[in-house]
Amino acid sequence: MKITIIGTGYVGLVSGACFADVGNTVLCLDVDSRKIDMLNAGEIPIHEPGLDKLVATNAAAGRILFTTDYDRAVAHADVIFIAVGTPPDEDGSADLRHILSAARSIGQRITRPIVVVDKSTVPVGTADQVRAAISEELQKRNATTSFTVVSNPEFLKEGAAIEDFMRPDRIVVGSDDPEATRIMRQLYAPFSRNHDKLIHMDVRSAELTKYAANAMLATRISFMNELANLAEALGADIEAVRMGIGSDPRIGPHFLYAGMGYGGSCFPKDVKALLKTSVDHGRTLHLLTAIEKVNEAQKSVLFDKITGHFGGVDALRGKTLALWGLSFKPNTDDMREAPSLVLIGKLIAAGCKVRAYDPVATSEARRLLLQENGEEACGRYLTLCDSAADAVSGADALALVTEWKEFRAPDFEQLAASLAGKAIFDGRNLYDPALVAAAGIAYHGIGRRGHNDAK
Ligand code: UDX
Repeated sequence: MKITIIGTGYVGLVSGACFADVGNTVLCLDVDSRKIDMLNAGEIPIHEPGLDKLVATNAAAGRILFTTDYDRAVAHADVIFIAVGTPPDEDGSADLRHILSAARSIGQRITRPIVVVDKSTVPVGTADQVRAAISEELQKRNATTSFTVVSNPEFLKEGAAIEDFMRPDRIVVGSDDPEATRIMRQLYAPFSRNHDKLIHMDVRSAELTKYAANAMLATRISFMNELANLAEALGADIEAVRMGIGSDPRIGPHFLYAGMGYGGSCFPKDVKALLKTSVDHGRTLHLLTAIEKVNEAQKSVLFDKITGHFGGVDALRGKTLALWGLSFKPNTDDMREAPSLVLIGKLIAAGCKVRAYDPVATSEARRLLLQENGEEACGRYLTLCDSAADAVSGADALALVTEWKEFRAPDFEQLAASLAGKAIFDGRNLYDPALVAAAGIAYHGIGRRGHNDAK
């Protein structure tokens, strides 16, 4: 099939490469010519495992192409995916400017029947707006070309996006038109071979499904984070509780990990947007307010443990803290809403030196940290290091912020020798407290039994 994808961000590029890989001809359009130049030169603007190879192979075979030319992009396609960004507005609602401008650009050009697919995460009712924008443009030029708008939300996890696309749990297609549904089935058949993964529903339910999924996952995380803080006060261990409840099939083991709070481009934005939608419709989802509040507070928990250990905020002045991991989760360089930003901001403000290391997110982190804390403070207090070992050298204590694989099994004896203050703050409960303690290092996890300072 001939597919056009508008928006070569994370979702657009991964979807485009995967559709191309199963034999479709995919034309990716972006209004940012710098991005298209990069892609045409074989460079991938984002870090996603396996994506560079997938794009290169399919580009060499002529199955994935890149352009800034809307005329070419619209003429090419039987199916057009809209995968542009929907940044949050000031009030938390999703900003549909880019989506509607893409819709208008399509309406100005179509000359044969097509299916337009909303792939970006968009509030319920957006497909109607997209349909109206296309119709308006058609009317302006007295055209009567038929088209259908369907909703096909993505459920890709950063760092595992290709695997998620190639072997999805489910493919949600919201379509009120049988022919468009047939085309979508055909398009996704290669990814749904052994079991039918496609769940067909009406457009509005598909739009809501995406928000519901992310809000549910955010709920689990905030619940576990709040419970972890209680477990600490009670002398219980959240890791034991996690296993105890996760083995109940009604609960399931995933997304029950207490940590430093969720970050990234989806959860924070989607929880806000769904809350706004619910308020706008007079059906406020009160749970979401609490979930957000808990998450914000959780981003400061490790800082509180650090100050607790050293004897107050003032005691941090002149200390040096090593920080392992900056990205909001492993296997990505994405720093959006990363808890590390909050922690580093607080440490710097307290006059504590930070030596941070991340396998891939350092340059993006530098940009954001400079923006948030200013050059002077960063110059004085922040060092971005080339290795995990470099970060701990000369440090008083270590904070584990992102659970990258390379941080999983450090040599604790060696760490004990490097860390003058002999303390580890484990923001992801990655380490066995007994092992750390055996090396003579104080261990502070999130909701772990007997190893946290009493509150
Ligand atoms: C998420 C959804 O999983 C995906 O389906 C959707 O399409 C986009 O949003 P992503 O943002 O890439 O994907 O990350 P995910 O792996 O879901 O993690 C989100 C955040 O939750 C991370 O900050 C992670 O550290 C945190 N998290 C996750 C926890 O704190 N505890 C957990 O148990 C799981």
